[in-house]
Amino acid sequence: MDKETKEEGRDDNLNEEKQNASSESSDVEDCSEMERLRRYLAQKLRLVDLPAGEQSDESQLQPTLRKLSLDGIVEYIKENENCKIITMAGAGISTSAGIPDFRSPSSGLYHKLDKYNLPHPQAIFELEFFMKNPEPFFTLARELLPEGFKPTISHYFIRLLWEKGLLLRHYTQNIDTLERVAGLPSEKLVEAHGTFHTGHCLKCRAPYTLPWMKEKIIEGAIPKCEECDEGVVKPDIVFFGEMLPERFQVLADRDFVEADLLIIMGSSLVVQPFASLVDRVRTTCPRLLINNEKVGMQDRLSRFLGLRQGLVFDAKSAHGGRDVAWLGDCDTGCQLLADKLGWRDELQALMQRERESLKAEDKSDN
Ligand code: OAD
Repeated sequence: MDKETKEEGRDDNLNEEKQNASSESSDVEDCSEMERLRRYLAQKLRLVDLPAGEQSDESQLQPTLRKLSLDGIVEYIKENENCKIITMAGAGISTSAGIPDFRSPSSGLYHKLDKYNLPHPQAIFELEFFMKNPEPFFTLARELLPEGFKPTISHYFIRLLWEKGLLLRHYTQNIDTLERVAGLPSEKLVEAHGTFHTGHCLKCRAPYTLPWMKEKIIEGAIPKCEECDEGVVKPDIVFFGEMLPERFQVLADRDFVEADLLIIMGSSLVVQPFASLVDRVRTTCPRLLINNEKVGMQDRLSRFLGLRQGLVFDAKSAHGGRDVAWLGDCDTGCQLLADKLGWRDELQALMQRERESLKAEDKSDN
């Protein structure tokens, strides 16, 4: 090919490029710095989603939801025989058991702490504040002690998922131990914010049991360590300012990439790092929220940057199409899900059996 032809060819290409550039605003030549950064992050770090047509990962190969509704989720579970489900829960699954949540207007715990004269409501669960003044926490603990509360339909629904071999893991922020009372085996449970079950001396780390702590707390005393005679014994609840249990870190890394379905129940999804677990499932994994209100949604900045962060209930969005919000009471939502899956009788039988055995235990304790 001689020089002239080459030049002609180049001109043709240039003309074509000019035309394309003017007709297609999304042309690569027109990519803004932001778009380039977004693509870079998507490819290198897999941090953000590319628009549906540009995805090259597993999302094009695997089926997601046909209907963005509870029925769509039901269909999906029925069609995936070995569906690996992760459940994530917050205080909302225990409110029907009589335990208040934290942030609900007027009924939430953080709206009822005036009598403690705290600098701010969350201080009651802050390590720094506790070290200086443990009294408010132990006064509150008397009300919160896991005593006499019974698991709810939501707890038994989670147990039923386990019995059916569908539960990969249950991640809870709750410290009320109701998942254990409902009979969920400890290997299926991650108590992300710790538990009242055990305690430790803050000075010498000597371990203590719930019955020991309970006795002191009910007496109105601040539990003091009997080993070192100095430290305060704190239940193993994770306070703000403390690390989450190692089990949380290890299992979250392993589980979330494996999940086929994520069900989030009764949480405001505002406390980290728990809240961002929702972002750790694969981009193809459907996510069902059962809650009084929509929570954990993608914010505007993340949407603008195309970050894979937060739930996207808007199906029209480039990242939508897999998130479902069922708004209402957790127990009603779980019951409905069980009914639609054809598990109504099994759930009923399980609850009846368990409640009778809890009653029998109560009687033998008295
Ligand atoms: P929150 O009180 O922040 O949120 C509870 C959510 O559940 C809210 O969105 C309620 O609307 C909803 N809800 C309440 N009752 C419900 C019901 N019966 N049915 C459906 N939805 C219901 O509680 P968490 O998200 O669990 O941490 O709070 C997270 C963490 O904040 C807690 O673990 C605790 C707290 O500070 C520590 O103490 C470290």
